[in-house]
Amino acid sequence: MTRIAVLPCDGAGKEVVPEAIKVLRAAGADFEFQEYDVNADQYMRTGEPIPPSTWTELQLADSILFGAVGDPRVNDSAYLAGVLLRLRFELDLYVNLRPARLYDDRLSPLRREDRRAIDLLIVRENTEGLYVGMGGRFKAGTEDEVAIQEDLNTHLGVTRIIDYAFGAARREVVMVDKSNAMTHAGALWQERWKAVAKRHPEVKTRHLYVDAAAMQLVRDPTQFEVIVTGNLFGDILSDLTAELIGGMGIAPSGNVNPETKRGLFEPVHGTAPDIAGKGIVNPIGAILSASMMVRHLGHTEMAGAIEGAVRSAIRDGECTRDLGGALSTSEVGDAVVRRLRD
Ligand code: IPM
Ligand code: MN
Repeated sequence: MTRIAVLPCDGAGKEVVPEAIKVLRAAGADFEFQEYDVNADQYMRTGEPIPPSTWTELQLADSILFGAVGDPRVNDSAYLAGVLLRLRFELDLYVNLRPARLYDDRLSPLRREDRRAIDLLIVRENTEGLYVGMGGRFKAGTEDEVAIQEDLNTHLGVTRIIDYAFGAARREVVMVDKSNAMTHAGALWQERWKAVAKRHPEVKTRHLYVDAAAMQLVRDPTQFEVIVTGNLFGDILSDLTAELIGGMGIAPSGNVNPETKRGLFEPVHGTAPDIAGKGIVNPIGAILSASMMVRHLGHTEMAGAIEGAVRSAIRDGECTRDLGGALSTSEVGDAVVRRLRD
């Protein structure tokens, strides 16, 4: 029996994850779902982002279905670091997959119709870079303060993420860095990029600095198939690509380790405190993340069926207001479910 650990967490996450589960069940996913109490209330009560017994179970789960973490009442970085970043780092989920596919032309913010066939994948390094939390503050709070944030890049880490990107591409991989200004880390990325590319002569390669990549993504996103990049640049560019396909509410992601097969699947959006709790948040990002999860677990047909149902609901205007519809969060879940049953 496939065991899915469910972590809805906070805010909008609590509203969208039940919709994703509803859709999975309708799609015929015969999984055991176990929900865990990992959220801001629990953290404020116990001081522990993830209770030790929960951690043990999360390590044993086949996959984790995740909502979003964060709460206006908790302005302490230990909470975020102790939940999402800990899971990414300690389960070694080194590949962050952030696909961007435009499901309907009307969702594109681009004026030109020939720039709308967007179907790209950002392969974001997920366990290193500027996210490792190394560094510190010296003479904090004084006018002499020094703050250092280390950018950690390893031979193994850079090699394996570039390798994964080649495996995911049919046509071309674009490597994105800032090696003109960040020369130490940049040189390692460049070296590993060239070495790995040699092993994949059938795939075309291109390199872009991150500033140029941002520009090209807006100018003509249809030119991209697979983009591989470091942790921070991948974070930033994937918000940009989310906006190209209809906004934060629609973009899915998967954090995976291709060797252990572990995975954590989550919408790219956060807890959305401004609109959470009103029944209006868009569950599509979470539903598409669930379809990425079943694809990762080997249920390719089921994943395709969910994506098809989502596409049809969007095209028929059965969506939340951020996509121009008038449905509630759970009505969108129902609209997708209905299409799976048809
Ligand atoms: C994301 C989020 C996280 C990140 C935050 C919440 C730490 O923005 O998943 O994109 O930066 O990775
Ligand atoms: Mn982000």
